Amino acid sequence: MQVRQHANWLTQLVREVDYKPKPIDGDFLNKPDEYPITGEHEGHKVRAEGKQRNDAEGKPYPTKLGIHGTQVAVDWETCLADGVCMDVCPVDVFQWHLKPGVKGTGNDLWPLNSELHERYRTDKSDPIREKDCIFCRACEIQCPVQAIKITEMSQ
Ligand code: F3S
Ligand code: F3S
Ligand code: ZN
Repeated sequence: MQVRQHANWLTQLVREVDYKPKPIDGDFLNKPDEYPITGEHEGHKVRAEGKQRNDAEGKPYPTKLGIHGTQVAVDWETCLADGVCMDVCPVDVFQWHLKPGVKGTGNDLWPLNSELHERYRTDKSDPIREKDCIFCRACEIQCPVQAIKITEMSQ
């Protein structure tokens, strides 16, 4: 498994955006009022899509993309397309949302055209095979912006 250790180097890989993301709320599954299920996408649930949330500076996020997945959850407001989650996952849970079938650091769709920029700001990690997760937590630990929350659920 590839391991990257230096935090400064990690942060250089995220895309620059016009807001300050905050980590995924690790308790989101226990807060259905704040994070209601708002849809399904690629076989997983999406929560809080369309809801206005605030960034780390208390300013409204420019997007309202919600959290994708349940046991492997990626907050799309937080994800800045670093891609290390895809590099380290031993069972290929993730793919790029805007480049379906493609994964990994540096393989995200970039730059985005103005329409996609308005909607997404960056490509997003999509947990399309969350059911395959073996709960190693490598993705959760290595994401430089803490966009991922792993919850081991009894099947
Ligand atoms: Fe996004 Fe973090 Fe993966 S920024 S692409 S969830 S490593
Ligand atoms: Fe994959 Fe391990 Fe995360 S199996 S989804 S890297 S917890
Ligand atoms: Zn999704």
